[in-house]
Amino acid sequence: MKLKIKTPATTANLGPGFDCLAASLSLYNEFEIVLVSNKQKLKITVEGVDSKYISENEDNIFYEAIKKIFDKQKIQIPSIEIYIRNNIPIKRGLGSSASACVAGVIAGNILCGEPLSENELLDVALELEGHPDNIVACMFGGLCISSVIENKVKFVKLNLPADILALTIIPQQKISTKEARKILPEKIFFKDAVKNISNVALLVSSLITKKYEFLKFATQDFLHQPYRKKLMPWMQKVFEICLENKSLCCMLSGSGSTVVAIYKKSDINNELLEKIETKLRKVVTCEFKVLPFINKGVIIKQ
Ligand code: HSE
Repeated sequence: MKLKIKTPATTANLGPGFDCLAASLSLYNEFEIVLVSNKQKLKITVEGVDSKYISENEDNIFYEAIKKIFDKQKIQIPSIEIYIRNNIPIKRGLGSSASACVAGVIAGNILCGEPLSENELLDVALELEGHPDNIVACMFGGLCISSVIENKVKFVKLNLPADILALTIIPQQKISTKEARKILPEKIFFKDAVKNISNVALLVSSLITKKYEFLKFATQDFLHQPYRKKLMPWMQKVFEICLENKSLCCMLSGSGSTVVAIYKKSDINNELLEKIETKLRKVVTCEFKVLPFINKGVIIKQ
């Protein structure tokens, strides 16, 4: 038996929506599993972007997620071979670990005979990932709003309009989400909480109703970006360059280091991209990808 699963990159938080908003992007990791004859040693092969940083042993996130489903079902995991084509850069805030978690819980569920619902799979992925935003958008695509209530993920998926896309500025600098969460304050001011909840509501409604003129204000965040920019001193300058060059809004993608700038598709052309690229390269060592948003998440081929 052979199973192929593709899971997309995701950009979480979208500015003010810390741990509750994420959107999926058209960049996919690919996972392939083959059931092999019993008692063969686990074989994992990883190729592609950042492959040297991805474990080929039992602590591989994709394998751990598969195993978690088997363990929960109290079924012995069979001998498998895994091939991973990694396209999502790791530790850049583009949901690479969520893509492996989601692919893994889906693969494990299929191999176990599909005992769990999609919602139950999300709850297992949450145990591995720790926050719901990336995993929900990875599984379902689109713009996802999620909340964890009594350890269960509750979410709503909305489709994003087709006339906007993401310019992703992906620095070489890697950021560990664990470290980037440690620097967040334990307490925040009431006024900052009010500004963030107002902006989340304005952001979601503006995206869906295409009131793009509000995005610049609605993506302002007072909960995590002001603290995380200490790890990424170039962040503000990158925002400024994009905003001076037709971007509708800019935000840190997840915990960074990627910055996502949203553009109207009609505004993007090679001349503009070259101009932005020249300016950005003076500020931070990075690569660029223009990535459309996608309204579909995981893709399974059996
Ligand atoms: N919401 C998470 C965080 C996303 O900001 O820590 C991590 O990519």
